[in-house]
Amino acid sequence: MTATVPVVTDISYQDLLDDPYPAFRRLRDTAPAVFVDAAKLTLVTRFDDITRIERDPATYSADNPASLVNKVMGPTFMRKDGAEHAIGRKAIEPSFKPTTIREHWTPRFAEICTNLVESLIAVGEADLFSALAAPMASLTLMEMIGFDEMPWQTLAYWSQSLIDGAGNYAGDAEIERKAMQAGADIDAAIDAVLDRHRANRNPSILSSMVHADPPMPIEGIRANIKVIIGGGLNEPRDAILTLVLGLLANPAQRDRVLAEPELWPAAFEEAVRWISPIGMYPRRVTRTVELSGVTLPEGLQIGLCVGAANRDDNRFPDPDSFNIFRPKQSHLAFGSGPHFCAGTWVSRLTVGRIVVPMLFERLRNLRLRDDAPPVVLGWVFRGPVSLPVRWDA
Ligand code: HEM
Repeated sequence: MTATVPVVTDISYQDLLDDPYPAFRRLRDTAPAVFVDAAKLTLVTRFDDITRIERDPATYSADNPASLVNKVMGPTFMRKDGAEHAIGRKAIEPSFKPTTIREHWTPRFAEICTNLVESLIAVGEADLFSALAAPMASLTLMEMIGFDEMPWQTLAYWSQSLIDGAGNYAGDAEIERKAMQAGADIDAAIDAVLDRHRANRNPSILSSMVHADPPMPIEGIRANIKVIIGGGLNEPRDAILTLVLGLLANPAQRDRVLAEPELWPAAFEEAVRWISPIGMYPRRVTRTVELSGVTLPEGLQIGLCVGAANRDDNRFPDPDSFNIFRPKQSHLAFGSGPHFCAGTWVSRLTVGRIVVPMLFERLRNLRLRDDAPPVVLGWVFRGPVSLPVRWDA
């Protein structure tokens, strides 16, 4: 005997945006899958269930023809399964290879970061969201894609417009117009550089796409670049801010990591476990199936709440604390299975080895402000939206 999916009506959308963790705990304790009225979605919140789902893409498909992502961005490999996914994924691989990261992206990203941090040293205070994390994430993604130089705010604006469009379930006409305009602007920016990448093979993602075997068709290039803009900017930005916040709020751990730099990788992993930049992503159930005693009917849309799974106390004791010394345990911040994040290694390096160490090294006595506390928001995407700090100028 299996049970039907229970329904929860007394969690508000605002609760999820402000602080989803009490709701996540309740959902984990209630059932393997729960329909949350405010989210209009069935949410899966336990670590083991999400791991099981991601091992079975035939039953839990990433492909969803009705998805708004497809409408706003076009047909992308992130929302395909099997061979269609694998071809797109393979096409971008050269840009994400460890040697490319080490030899090409690392020195370039260190230079971008040095410029940003040096411009801050004499200032003494800033909101690290707009002064560091957003420009860093935007400028590095611009280079990785292979765009011509543009103000960091332009790529950030496109990214946000696409994300808003992909989550526009209420059908707001202005949100849709902005997303479509961003899409058209991105297509024009791609057109402006594509011949150059064809003529000159280089480590950028656009170059990888046009030199892939078979070369990616232009509709695929357009859609997949949009997915990368929508999904490759906010996450490193939020991971930078979350790691800084975790360390500033826990000075004993900060002191240890500054004294023992080999602890940086563990600090990075703990930050993205603690506040996962992507809190939830969708899957579609392709056949009626039982998940840990609950029946999921064919066609059901489910949301995999990795932000909840990363605080599952069956896997992470005392899950709400930021603790870089917790026993090493894999987490789900980068997803798992065939769609495991393509940008994992480049993010680990940029955030955990370049940006945050340089920030603590160059801005002396970096500290939070008592009069302006940080603000952390979101549940589908979550991170600090403001992180005001001071240092000794
Ligand atoms: C801390 C930073 C990041 C986090 C936490 C993160 C998280 C994730 C997650 C959870 C997924 C799975 C989504 C799904 O299955 O629906 C994903 C997929 C993906 N990510 Fe990331 N991401 C990060 C950075 C980046 C960066 C910097 C890039 C590109 C430059 C990137 C490119 C991608 C791509 C292309 C996919 C789709 C992979 C596929 O479908 O095979 N990510 N990411």
